[in-house]
Amino acid sequence: MKIFVLTGAGVSAESGLGTFRDKDGVWTRYDLNDVATPEGFARNPALVRDFYNARRANLAGAAPNAAHLALARLEAELTARGGELYLCTQNVDDLHERAGSLRVIHMHGELAVTRCNHCQATWSDTGVLAAETACPACGRDQGARPHVVWFGETPLFMDEIEDALSRADLFVSIGTSGSVYPAAGFVTEARAMGIAACEINLEPSANAYVFDEKHYGPASEVVPAWVERMLK
Ligand code: OAD
Repeated sequence: MKIFVLTGAGVSAESGLGTFRDKDGVWTRYDLNDVATPEGFARNPALVRDFYNARRANLAGAAPNAAHLALARLEAELTARGGELYLCTQNVDDLHERAGSLRVIHMHGELAVTRCNHCQATWSDTGVLAAETACPACGRDQGARPHVVWFGETPLFMDEIEDALSRADLFVSIGTSGSVYPAAGFVTEARAMGIAACEINLEPSANAYVFDEKHYGPASEVVPAWVERMLK
């Protein structure tokens, strides 16, 4: 069996990383136009670097929860049985990897990677984003930005993701509001190809009606129970 799992901020909520659109979510406290667009970075790079430095600090103190661990177990056991788990996340945290998932596709980039805004070189970096940092590839400063896909930029690995989705037997969406495209459209694409679709969330998402199986509750409880059933 080939399972395509899409995760969003809800899978990391119980690890203490804030979601975006829930009550008290990140976008209720910050204007995304200021901190999550190329134009915002051009206007005020210091504000954008401070925002992502705070997120890097939060991530350093976070740990994977039972949902991340269950998905790592599903990957290991499906692979051992000749199946496949394709784990695509909108999250920029590395909690899936820290839980033991071996292959994670970060369609919105990674917080612990810095990108040079001049030459687009990327490098692993959990330190502080600073204007003075010289790019290891081109040597220029003033260009350090997080390797995170901002609004108005194209998500990463889209050809590979579309290919994996078309080959799946089951599409599962976990902890995402279903309001940010292209990820929000995956369920409609899956259903159009005759692929069964399952939603796991605290509450029905914006496109809950498209799914044919739904489980509601905290990811740390619902995901391990669902994995247990899948492996039986
Ligand atoms: P949102 O904040 O929009 O949605 C979080 C979803 O998680 C909601 O549907 C909640 O109901 C659900 N949720 C919250 N706590 C949960 C829990 N404990 N267990 C299960 N579900 C829970 O986050 P995303 O949909 O991931 O992009 O947001 C998508 C993108 O929008 C993000 O990747 C980010 C953001 O702007 C960029 O920054 C480019």
